[in-house]
Amino acid sequence: MTTQPTRLLVCGGAGYIGSHMCKLLSEHGYHVAVVDNLSTGHKEAVRWGQLYEGDIGDSAFLSRVFADVQPEGVLHFAAKSIVSESVSHPALYYQNNVSASLNLFEQVRRIPGCPLIFSSTAAIFGVPRSERINEAHPKDPINAYGRSKLAVEQALQDYWAAYGMPSMAFRYFNAAGADPSAVIGEAHEPETHLIPKVFQSILGDPVPLKIFGDDYETPDGTCVRDYVHVNDLCMAHLLGLRFLRLHRGAHAFNLGNGAGFSVREVLKTAERITGTAVRHELTDRRPGDPSHLVADSSAARETLGWEPQHIGLEDIMRTAWTWHRNRSPVKHDGA
Ligand SMILES: NC(=O)c1ccc[n+]([C@@H]2O[C@H](COP(=O)([O-])OP(=O)(O)OC[C@H]3O[C@@H](n4cnc5c(N)ncnc54)[C@H](O)[C@@H]3O)[C@@H](O)[C@H]2O)c1
Repeated sequence: MTTQPTRLLVCGGAGYIGSHMCKLLSEHGYHVAVVDNLSTGHKEAVRWGQLYEGDIGDSAFLSRVFADVQPEGVLHFAAKSIVSESVSHPALYYQNNVSASLNLFEQVRRIPGCPLIFSSTAAIFGVPRSERINEAHPKDPINAYGRSKLAVEQALQDYWAAYGMPSMAFRYFNAAGADPSAVIGEAHEPETHLIPKVFQSILGDPVPLKIFGDDYETPDGTCVRDYVHVNDLCMAHLLGLRFLRLHRGAHAFNLGNGAGFSVREVLKTAERITGTAVRHELTDRRPGDPSHLVADSSAARETLGWEPQHIGLEDIMRTAWTWHRNRSPVKHDGA
């Protein structure tokens, strides 16, 4: 007798992290289906499973998808995630990230024991009160994006207690890099993340890269962030799925490299990789930017056996560079 592959639904699977997840899942023998409204995702990134194009806030659409796919697990990446937009237009964030998530959970909780993995964020912690942020750090978000993610995490706790819906929330720090195949990678529009912006600048973006402040209490004065490779993040989800089979509950883990790199280090690393200077200008600090944002991921390592493979900044950034160079219409001679 042959066993059927486990059927998983990936919401937001046309996006940056979700598309890498689909690739990894299918490499591990899962059967994948994707739900995405393509608001920030890309149709061409859906290569490892059928795309159901629609919005997770649409109950009738979701009912049809669940009836068709009959998922045995759900990975939920679908969200808006631009902090400044969440401040100027919070309704978008509460509707898309909270209300639409609850709509998705209505479907999930009808399937007894169906596990759900949720993409949360370091933004739920707000201003860091320690050098590294572990799971016990106070959760005090300072913008609507962080608050929308924290609200969903809290709902997941309640849904486990009342309905027995098992879940795991992963708080990513800064996802970075691309699959070594370079057929998928980070492509947000507008792009707000530092590493893709640096490479876009090298590939000819006429707007100079902005460094927001160099008078922070960090070794070179610029902000320090924790960059974790997208495939390492996805591997944590695989481990999370396996863990949830044996340990039902509403779990939450912080996922980061545990090493911080400054904005200037990112620029210098890009220059070393590409052999090209990054055009940049120094401007004022942005309100709400903490000097350090670095994860303590020892709980994920110890409990899930998570072992990130891409530790060095250069290693992570090289995979991103290969992706950006391949998709750029401008040819670049850099290594
Ligand atoms: N990229 C990071 O560094 C980072 C850090 C922390 C947390 N996160 C979280 O990880 C998740 C994935 O991030 P990403 O960088 O891949 O973003 P992304 O924008 O590339 O992917 C999100 C995907 O969800 C889809 N989507 C959004 N709202 C939807 C809806 N209502 N219905 C159906 N599809 C919808 C988008 O079209 C897109 O394909 C998000 O939840 C984000 O908040 C990302």
